[in-house]
This record gives sequence, structure tokens and C-alpha cells, in this order.
Amino acid sequence: MVKICCIGAGYVGGPTMAVIALNCPSIEVVVVDISVTRISAWNSDQLPIYEPGLNEVVKQCKGRNLFFSTDVEKHVSEADIIFVSVNTPTKTRGLGAGKAADLTYWESAARMIADVSKSNKIVVEKSTVPVKTAEAIERILTHNSKGIKYQILSNPEFLAEGTAIQDLFKPDRVLIGGRETPDGLKAIQALKDVYAHWVPEDRIITTNLWSAELSKLAANAFLAQRISSVNAMSALCEATGADVSQVSHAVGKDSRIGPKFLNASVGFGGSCFQKDILNLVYICECNGLAEVANYWKQVIKVNDYQKNRFVNRVVSSMFNTVSGKKIGIMGFAFKKDTGDTRETPAIDVCKGLLGDKARLSIYDPQVTADQIQRDLTMNKFDWDHPIHLQPMSPTGVKQVSIAWDAYEASKDAHALCILTEWDEFKTLDYRRIFDNMQKPAFVFDGRNVVNVEMLRDIGFIVYSIGKPL
Ligand code: NAD
Ligand code: UGA
Repeated sequence: MVKICCIGAGYVGGPTMAVIALNCPSIEVVVVDISVTRISAWNSDQLPIYEPGLNEVVKQCKGRNLFFSTDVEKHVSEADIIFVSVNTPTKTRGLGAGKAADLTYWESAARMIADVSKSNKIVVEKSTVPVKTAEAIERILTHNSKGIKYQILSNPEFLAEGTAIQDLFKPDRVLIGGRETPDGLKAIQALKDVYAHWVPEDRIITTNLWSAELSKLAANAFLAQRISSVNAMSALCEATGADVSQVSHAVGKDSRIGPKFLNASVGFGGSCFQKDILNLVYICECNGLAEVANYWKQVIKVNDYQKNRFVNRVVSSMFNTVSGKKIGIMGFAFKKDTGDTRETPAIDVCKGLLGDKARLSIYDPQVTADQIQRDLTMNKFDWDHPIHLQPMSPTGVKQVSIAWDAYEASKDAHALCILTEWDEFKTLDYRRIFDNMQKPAFVFDGRNVVNVEMLRDIGFIVYSIGKPL
């Protein structure tokens, strides 16, 4: 029986390994983590992450050929294939702070593998890492090898949160990079054999190590660039009377451009787009490619501009002051169908409004009150160093309260800001909400989910990203 061990039981490690276990009953999969709380949650009925369809997959194979454990060393030493899916956040201090990837967690995992291994291993980079990381990992492993052979593969993950399970079951592609030596090719084939249990062969791409590592950064940079492009257009739409949804539709009909990922928003969030682009920028700078670095930096700049623009719009529309006014915040997660708040645009928008002394009442169907308070008191980039070690703020932010539902969040509020595109925000009873709000009642829709005409008919003053005012 092939044994797989995955180091890191997070948003990637957990769902990815569950799908491998479900599709490969002949393989034993153990997911290990240093976080006792995370592993206990995986072993309970209350999984540590919210992801549609995940529960069902885990239920089918947990205890059969899928296990979660904190006994990291034991399971690493027994495994044939070791996935490393630890966090690779942006460095907060020292050389490259604010841009470079912090590989502390990766390196400590690699050193531990070297310490405990007693047989040959295939080590798979699942985390998103700077191009050439495999070389560094190879050095750490082989310098401490005691005669054991290691093959390093790059197998970046392309799943998106909220659709992780369907992305894993039907991936557009699986990418495997490895050394072009006989042993390297053998390792690539071994990993290919795992995916071939459910992924059609023509969707499994093999490349050299550096192409695989760089393709992951490139894919995220291209995706984020599309959003910044449409968001830049949204500002122009508002200035000219064009409607960004109509522009996106017309542009996306060109088959060379395609319709996906052209939704204007308050800005992209999530744990990876910004971090991976900053990482790409840093790599370009280290390679003397200042123009290339500047090109990609613009994607982040436009994203920051979009979040600021939204806050400025709220404040300026409300007679240049939100001081003491209650504002209902609808949605805090970085996108719908997840409870994840890492780099959510809601943090910047809320901090911006709090800076102008607004009182916020925040509602999100999946994010806990503790998490929201923590996010609003934390410094930029601190969130991922790592999650389970972050201390809770003793007092929280006093101007913030957490609401049980959208109606409570909007009661007596002067304005609503829709920051996550949860489906339930489309079908709220806006008449009831209007009746319970201060007048004039404003709606600022950062996700284009409401029917603008309908809300204006009720009496709201509506501002929706990229729509005629
Ligand atoms: P995460 O923070 O949810 O999970 C990482 C886990 O690794 C944590 O539970 C942490 O405790 C554990 N860990 C850290 N160091 C460890 C060690 N030495 N030994 C054992 N466990 C250790 O992170 P994530 O969202 O799953 O992301 C992991 C990687 O995958 C990142 O590089 C990210 O860029 C990449 N990625 C993420 C996504 C996504 O949607 N979240 C998608 C594609 C790629
Ligand atoms: C993204 C990529 O889509 C995945 O392929 C990748 O594996 C992952 O990053 C990663 O490396 O972590 P994710 O961040 O989970 O996945 O979610 P996306 O659906 O990409 O959304 C990212 C952000 O962009 C969200 O805030 C979303 O609301 C925003 N977005 C997305 C828009 O503003 N407009 C769009 O048209 C699409």
C-alpha cells in the first residue's frame, strides 16, 4: 500500500488529501499538523474550514484510508510520498519584508523530514513557493540525507475556496514538475499514477521544476490582473455613465478573452493573490527586472485604489462625515461560500470607515465574531504567522458590533455596505430594511448583487460598483 503524508492540514492540505483518499482507496493518506486544535477539529464533526461538499467527502473516507494526526514525525517517517502544504506568507521583517515569501514553515518542515526519514521519499511542494525553492529544499534534504534518496516535485494547487471540492474532482489541469533525470521521471510517474485514479491523462501536465513553480505564480498573477483590469474600468464607467456589467459582458464575449473572472468588485482578497504577486515582484527585482516588477505591482496598486475609492465614496456620499453613524456591513469573508477572511477587502474597508469614526455592525453568515475582531486589530500580513498562534485582542474594537443577521446589522443604520456576494443578500426584504433605517438610507454595493432600480424605487440612495450613479 502506498502511503501518503501531508504536512499542513489547512485549506489546501485538508480538502486535497480528502479527495485523494476518496478516489484512491488503495492509498493510505495521513494529514499531519503542529496545530492540535486544527487536527482535533478535523477529527470531530465540526471541520476547521467551511467548504461546500467537504463534509461529505471527509465522512466517506475518514478512518478508512484518511487520517488526521499531530504525530508529524511518525507519519512522515512512514510515508512514501510527502506533500508539504504549509503556509508561505509574506515576510513581515528583515530582507524582502512586505514582499518576499516567508519560507520559515517550509524550511522547518524540510529539516524535520531530513531528521526523521529512514527510507527514500518523494517530497511534493504543494504550497505556493518562489521559483527555485525546490533547489533550496533539495540542498537541505541531501545535506542531511544519511544515504536516503529524495526526489522533489512541484505540484502546485489551483483550487479556489468555496469551490474547492469541485475544482479538485474536475481540475482544469494537474501540474507536476520534476527533475528530468531517470529518478526524477520515475517520481513524476509515481505522482501521476495517484492523480490518474480520477483525472484524465490529458489533463495532467508535466514540466521541469522551475516551470511548475513559476506557472503557479503566473496563473495567480494573470487572474488577479483580470480583476484589476475590470476594476479599473469600473472607475471609468462611473465617470462616464457606462455600466461595468454590460462592458464585461461585451468584452468577455470575445472568445480570446472569455467571460470568467470579469466581475467588478470592491477589490480582490484571499490569502494568495496579493502575497503571490508581491512574491513575483520580489523575484523580478532580485533578477534585475525592474520594469517587469513594476508591471505586476500595478495589479496590487489598482486593487488598493479600488478599496480606497469605495471608502471615499461612502464618506463623500454621506455628506463627508460618517462620525458616530451606524453602518451595516453585509459580509466579511473574502468571497461567498467560505468563512475565510484572509486579506478580505472588508478589513480595509472597515478600517477605513472606523478611521472616519463610523460605528459598524457586521454580519457574515460564516465568519465568527472573534475572527472579525481579530482581523480588525491585526497588522497587515500578521494573520498568517500562523493563524492558531495569534492572540485575541483583549478588548476588541469598541466601535464594532457583530450582528446575527442582515436585519439586525441594518437596524437604525444610515448605510449598508455589501462587501461579500453571499446569495442571501440578493433576496433580503429590502423594504423591511429600508423602513428600519435612518433616512436618507444609503446602500453601497461592493459586489453588484442588488437590483439597483428596485432599491431606488423603495427609496434607497444606491451606489453600486461601476454602475451609473
Ligand atoms: P493554511 O494556513 O490554511 O494551512 C497551513 C497549515 O500548515 C497550518 O494549519 C499550519 O499549522 C501548518 N503548518 C505550518 N508549519 C508546519 C510544520 N512545520 N509542520 C506541520 N504543520 C505546519 O494555509 P493554506 O491556505 O492551506 O495554504 C497552504 C499553501 O497552499 C500556501 O502556500 C498557499 O499559498 C497555497 N495555496 C492556497 C490556496 C487556498 O485556496 N488557500 C490555494 C492554492 C494554493
Ligand atoms: C484563487 C485562484 O482562483 C485559485 O486558482 C488559486 O489556487 C488560489 O487563488 C490560491 O492560489 O490561493 P481564491 O483566492 O480561493 O482562489 O478565490 P477566487 O475565486 O480566485 O477569488 C479571489 C478574490 O477575487 C475574491 O475576493 C473574489 O471575490 C475576487 N474576484 C474574483 C473578483 O473580485 N472578481 C472576479 O471576477 C473574480
